[in-house]
Amino acid sequence: MVDKVYKHDVIILGAGLAGLRAAVEIGRKFGDRVNVGIVSKVQLMRAHSVCAEGGTAAVLRPEEGDSFELHAWDTIKGSDFLADQDAVFRFVKMMPYEILLLEHWGIPWARREDGKVAARAFGGQSFLRTCFAQDKTGFFEMQTLYDTLLKFTNFQRYDEFFATSIIVKDNKFAGLTAIDLVNGEFVVFTGKVLIIATGGAGRLYRFTTYSHSVTGDGLAMAYRAGLPLKDMEFIQFHPTGIVPSGILVTEGARGEGGYLRNNKGERFMEKYAPSRMELAPRDIVSRSMMTEIEEGRGFEGPDGLDYLHLDLTHLGKEKILERLPLIRELAIKFAGVDPIYEPIPVRPVAHYSMGGIHVDIDGRTPMENIFAAGEAACVSVHGANRLGSNSTAECLVWGRITGELAGEYALSKDFAISEDRILNDAEEEFKRIDNMLRNEGSENPYEIRNELRKLMDTHVGVFRTGDKLQEALDKVKELRQRFKNIKIVDKDLVWNTDLVSALETENMLEIAEIVILGALLREESRGAHARRDFPKRDDERFLKHTLAYRNEDGSPRIEYIPVNITYWKPVERKY
Ligand code: FUM
Repeated sequence: MVDKVYKHDVIILGAGLAGLRAAVEIGRKFGDRVNVGIVSKVQLMRAHSVCAEGGTAAVLRPEEGDSFELHAWDTIKGSDFLADQDAVFRFVKMMPYEILLLEHWGIPWARREDGKVAARAFGGQSFLRTCFAQDKTGFFEMQTLYDTLLKFTNFQRYDEFFATSIIVKDNKFAGLTAIDLVNGEFVVFTGKVLIIATGGAGRLYRFTTYSHSVTGDGLAMAYRAGLPLKDMEFIQFHPTGIVPSGILVTEGARGEGGYLRNNKGERFMEKYAPSRMELAPRDIVSRSMMTEIEEGRGFEGPDGLDYLHLDLTHLGKEKILERLPLIRELAIKFAGVDPIYEPIPVRPVAHYSMGGIHVDIDGRTPMENIFAAGEAACVSVHGANRLGSNSTAECLVWGRITGELAGEYALSKDFAISEDRILNDAEEEFKRIDNMLRNEGSENPYEIRNELRKLMDTHVGVFRTGDKLQEALDKVKELRQRFKNIKIVDKDLVWNTDLVSALETENMLEIAEIVILGALLREESRGAHARRDFPKRDDERFLKHTLAYRNEDGSPRIEYIPVNITYWKPVERKY
């Protein structure tokens, strides 16, 4: 049943910013001595990272008043003190070099009048430190990394291969199973070391900024392979998703001076975060917006998507065309408004998973030859709430770190596990998928996915309560039961999008249960996790990371570990 086996020293699963940065690092450091397979379910430049808009944070101007300490403080305060402080310091110190490297590799960073790399304001960042390339930063970063990768000859791309499981032997990574979508084949990748860089799980929500591909596959695979997921209850809601599509309007729009207004025309952020206004951290802005909407100061939108206004009209045509051309195009195409003349309808939208695969400060999981980087990983730099422009930055830093460590690991080890042992497990996995394909149940997997995403919007949103979370947990368990009885209509293996969608939905159900259970058990409000029934942060009980392990019966088991507080003691968070 296994059609092909591919063998590489290092397997990188996921070809977004973190995956590409890891691949480039291996090329740079080790060249042809370390051979890499890059496996992705989409074509390389279609990873969701290309959608990153606003920028990448780094301390570039100490002479003008910025410092590592300030960037670290902003990040830790923004995280509501759940970030591991040693990791944050490593992060901020490594970032300037990443900006410089990208510059040398050809990225068109925006410039100041004096010719230096420009930076714009971003939420919760108390200095201008968000470097940008128009409002298409992710696209330009991806393109630059891809161009750079092409200098090397040590890698092979596997675009449009859908990975389904991680094979573990002797508590170590041994291989990956995948479906080659183009050829309709079951294939196996063996390697000495794996880097998981598959991004987050934002399609769990219906109103979301994420591309259709972001379904938490890497997270679910890691979890099924025995790795714990950390802090999954912390989902970030970005303040400005365009209504009704959910497409992102970058925080850069507010960084360039945009206002948020309610239906009375008021800049309501004055009430909630007077010192930072529209540039308070995202959790605070999103909660303020939901409060305005719930108290009747929003505009009526379609499908219950009531909204507020993002007003850029005072910025002027020239600035909008120079700094925010994509936002203008999106607003015209997806909301029918030209922001040069009219406000954009926006509301908080699911945007980022602060949680992810539990890794240490080196990006290493509890299995010695599996690393994770980028949004798929939880180091944790972002704690309970990430600051805008720290995510692309994190992808670069831990892409680099994990690339280097994976390369070193590969050079120091032989292939330890016999192919026979790996193939046995692979056969089992492909049998499971074949059975799913042949099942003639009565449930429609697309319907299950829709119900799940609606449920997450209504029950696990910006504000949460124990009752709603319990209802959501019961419903997800029911959906998981129903999923066992699905029917996949297309029975062929070549480009079977029905099958891929069903496998993604299975992953999403698994991840949703962890998000909801973690949220239910965390009886406090911290960062993006706002419990109406527990409105205060409770450091005594919950200054700790959540770890979710998978029980044999497939249900999650929650444990907790301490936060690394190495520098600042938690204090009240005010803006
Ligand atoms: O608003 C934005 O451009 C998003 C940036 C981020 O999530 O870091």
